[in-house]
Amino acid sequence: MTQAYAIDEMISAKAIAARIEELAREISTTFADTEKLVVVGLLRGSFVFIADLVRELNLPIEVDFLEASSYGDAMESSREVRILKDLRGAIEGRDVLVVEDIVDTGHTMNHVIRLLKSRKPARLRSIALLDKPSRREVDFRADWTGFEIPDEFVVGYGIDFAQRNRNLPFIGKVRFLEEGTA
Ligand code: IMP
Ligand code: MG
Repeated sequence: MTQAYAIDEMISAKAIAARIEELAREISTTFADTEKLVVVGLLRGSFVFIADLVRELNLPIEVDFLEASSYGDAMESSREVRILKDLRGAIEGRDVLVVEDIVDTGHTMNHVIRLLKSRKPARLRSIALLDKPSRREVDFRADWTGFEIPDEFVVGYGIDFAQRNRNLPFIGKVRFLEEGTA
């Protein structure tokens, strides 16, 4: 049993949608001349974000997915990153955008970007919906970030706590409850 918790809204669905429109405009400009952009979602946390983002991109795209191990079911990140599911397609000579839910310690994205770079894409860029810069352990910065947030554990909009709350339409922060409070 996990301890009881409440979820306090931190970023509304409306604010997320508005920010995604801005980001998509910038990405569409950057890749305006692309033959076809390979949009790579990191499973599972990015599935809602990538769905909304691609629908705002004014570009020819394809979608692929990669799964890297991170938290397991705990709240602590592990430093060792493993690839659980690799891309279906080759990316050599292609334009690639990696889409992540949150950059926390930076280990996951650092590892994934290095791996994909070794496959010699033409252009490789990254976007993270959320960034917790105060938690960083390795030097990594996404090319685009939706929102910088403080060191809080968040859920919703694809992001989970022990696989729960991914279906919330907003980003909320987890607040643990003392027994008998609400
Ligand atoms: P990093 O390797 O420490 O940067 O971890 C990134 C991964 O940890 C993200 O892809 C998320 O899956 C997970 N993560 C980081 N912060 C949170 C959070 O606040 N809530 C849920 N998952 C998180
Ligand atoms: Mg993740």
